[in-house]
Amino acid sequence: MGGEPVIPLSLARIAQITGGQLRHGDPAAVVSGEVVIDSRRAGPGGLFAAVAGERSDGHDFAAAALAAGATAVLAPRPVPVPSVLVADVPAALAALARAVVDALPAARIAGLTGSSGKTSTKDLAAQLVERLGPTVAPAGSFNNEFGHPLTVLRADAATRYLVLELSARGIGHIAYLCRVAPPRYGVVLNVGHAHAGEFGGLDQVARAKGELVEVLPADGVAILNADDPRVLAMAARTGARVVTFGIGARDATVRAADIRLDELGRPSFTLLTPQGSAPVTLRLHGAHNVPNALAAATLAGELGLGLDGIADGLGAAVARSRWRMEVHQRADGVTVINDAYNANPESVRAAIDALAHLAQCQPGGAGRAFAVLGHMAELGGTSRASHEDIGEYAARVDDSGLAGLIAVGEEAGPLLDGARRVRSWTGEALAVPDGAAVLDLLANRLKPSDVVLVKASRAAHLEGVAAALLGEAG
Ligand SMILES: Nc1ncnc2c1ncn2[C@@H]1O[C@H](COP(=O)(O)OP(=O)(O)OP(=O)(O)O)[C@@H](O)[C@H]1O
Ligand SMILES: [Mg+2]
Repeated sequence: MGGEPVIPLSLARIAQITGGQLRHGDPAAVVSGEVVIDSRRAGPGGLFAAVAGERSDGHDFAAAALAAGATAVLAPRPVPVPSVLVADVPAALAALARAVVDALPAARIAGLTGSSGKTSTKDLAAQLVERLGPTVAPAGSFNNEFGHPLTVLRADAATRYLVLELSARGIGHIAYLCRVAPPRYGVVLNVGHAHAGEFGGLDQVARAKGELVEVLPADGVAILNADDPRVLAMAARTGARVVTFGIGARDATVRAADIRLDELGRPSFTLLTPQGSAPVTLRLHGAHNVPNALAAATLAGELGLGLDGIADGLGAAVARSRWRMEVHQRADGVTVINDAYNANPESVRAAIDALAHLAQCQPGGAGRAFAVLGHMAELGGTSRASHEDIGEYAARVDDSGLAGLIAVGEEAGPLLDGARRVRSWTGEALAVPDGAAVLDLLANRLKPSDVVLVKASRAAHLEGVAAALLGEAG
């Protein structure tokens, strides 16, 4: 990342927009570079927003950001460099982002939310929408009160489209993000268990995600997953036109038929749209990317991309954000699936399905499937039961279950208890404390044609296990 200019703003104007106080700086000095919260990313003409984190305090890096070329610092406490003092950094970023949006009335804003697949879908949609014109949609998961305004601040006068990922950990969060950058297009992917513990259940998750369609204007478009009843029900909460996508739902506006997976789990399907149908083969892995592709196709179609461009673009689209269903083959014939970015019950099931499929499709007959699973965070009171259910799912998948379930860390017990509920399962159930123990355990176990999935919530940091299995520096 780096380098993309925001709309040039003087420090005086930044102080005015944020209600902050200019200190040590020339009011006419201009911010023309990126706005960042990581001082290591600060660059020429940029603005560094100092945030006090758990491990470090951004104020300590104010001088370093200036030395790297930043014009000024946005900070809640005084710093001895050109700065705008603000009471609340996220609110200041939101105000700046809103000012940028207001300066770009021709830019079309799409917001995208759901429990699983936001980043994957945003990356797919970006690769379609870019065919229509300059698009802001950075790789990665910039979806909260920091990442969202930082993304919007990457827009410049040339920007025609913003494809924004919106996350919620509670009621009102998405409504807040939508005030920062009011979307005309709103996509809701699914309502699942990610952060369900904090919400207090799926109906609350649906209430929060649906805030996106409630804010859409009458000339806007709500793009809803017709296969998810909680998402489809959001049609009643919007004044915008509703367009649906789906696989099972036969009356969805945009659909996929004839879905097949190749030996690496990459889906092919026939894309069915009101404009006609077209064959599509994705480069992404896993059947769960079909609804993601349909959502991206529907959005791009509404923005004006024709069917040929959509089909061609979906086939050309690559994974832009790391650690989501990355499939790598080792020289010795072992396949490693690095899906260690995050985990919730829906995405773990999707990954186990992909794992089982890849194992079945190994050359020379079925290979063995091993899942290295860490814990799924933020499930609240249902955590134990959810981990047991995942263990059971792993022991039942494809009738005979996985060859091995390696449960890592704090929820290893419930994962294995769930697997053991399946009396007919003959796979191995192993509990280990950490990633190093996973590597020890697998070192002498893996053989050609084996497939290993590595997946857990972000907090478990299992991507290092996947990297080590591939012989890369973690
Ligand atoms: N439609 C889907 N259904 C279930 N799982 C999915 C779906 N799309 C992606 N996944 C899986 O969910 C995980 C996270 O994907 P992604 O990063 O795209 O989601 P996200 O919604 O952006 O997550 P976050 O809330 O962390 O931002 C990955 O393991 C991915 O393979
Ligand atoms: Mg994300």
